[in-house]
Amino acid sequence: MNEATYRKMHAVFYIILKQSHVRLELIRCKEIYELLVDSHAHLQWASFNKDLEDVLDRAAREGVENVVNVGFDFDGSRKGIELADKYNELYAAVGFHPHVANQLDDNILDELEKLSENRKVVAIGEIGLDYYRKLSPIEVQWRTFITQLSLAEKLDLPVIVHNREAHADVVKALLKFKGKIRGVMHCFSGSKDMARQCIKMGFYISFAGSVTYPNSRGLREVVQWIGLNRILLETDCPWLAPQDVRGKRNEPAFLVFTARKIAELKKISLEGLASATMANTNELFRMH
Ligand code: NI
Repeated sequence: MNEATYRKMHAVFYIILKQSHVRLELIRCKEIYELLVDSHAHLQWASFNKDLEDVLDRAAREGVENVVNVGFDFDGSRKGIELADKYNELYAAVGFHPHVANQLDDNILDELEKLSENRKVVAIGEIGLDYYRKLSPIEVQWRTFITQLSLAEKLDLPVIVHNREAHADVVKALLKFKGKIRGVMHCFSGSKDMARQCIKMGFYISFAGSVTYPNSRGLREVVQWIGLNRILLETDCPWLAPQDVRGKRNEPAFLVFTARKIAELKKISLEGLASATMANTNELFRMH
C-alpha cells in the first residue's frame, strides 16, 4: 500500500470512529495500516491550552496514535499526568530539565517518586545536562541528573536524556549506570561516535524535526548509519517544527514530516519506519 492510500484509509477509519463514538483502539487494525508514536512532546505547555482537542484530532488523522508528554519541572510533570489520565492515547514522563536543576530537593524528589506511580508514567524525563544555555550551574545540573538516574534505576523506569553541548559529561554520567538503566537520547544532535557510545550502553536515539533542516547534514548521516531497531521519532513540540512548517508552533501531527524524511534516508517505506519505531518505543516505554 502506498503512503497516500494508507493516510486516506486512516482518515476514513478515524472519521467513522469519531462519528460512531467508538474509541480508536477498539478496532485498531495493524494489518491495514501502521501508526506513528510521538515519543517526546510537551502538550502540557501553555501554548496548547486553547486548542488541545483539535491538536489531538489532527494527530490522530495523521496516524500519530500515541504521544508521550515529557516533564521539565514539577508542574509540567503533574500536568502531563493529568492529560494522560484524561486522554487514553497520551502517556507521561516525569522529571526535572537541567534548566531547572536547582528546583529538585529531597522533598520534591519524594513527590516526583509519588507521581511516577501513576500507571500512565512510562519514563523519567527529561533529565540531563545543558551546557549551551547553562541556566543552572554545571555542578547543580550534574547532581540533579545523577539523582534522577538513580531514581530511574530504583523504579526500573527508562530515562529520557536531554543533552546540549555536554556530550562527554552525559556519557560519563550514563556510564556510571551502565547495564542498570535503559533510555533514549532525545532530539539527538551528536556525532556518529556519540550515537555509537549511547547504543553500546543500550540506549535508543530519537530524532526530531531538526533532521529536516537544510544545515543538518551531519545528523542525516547519523540517521543513515544507525540501525532501524534503535530509532525513535519525536516532535519535541511546541518547538522544532520540521522544515515544511518551520516557524509555526510544532504539534504531534507534524511528526509525519520527520518520519517521511527518515524513511527516505533509510530507503524504506513510511509503513516500515512506522512499524519499527512503534515497536522500539513500546519496547522502551512498555506502553501497551
Ligand atoms: Ni523536550
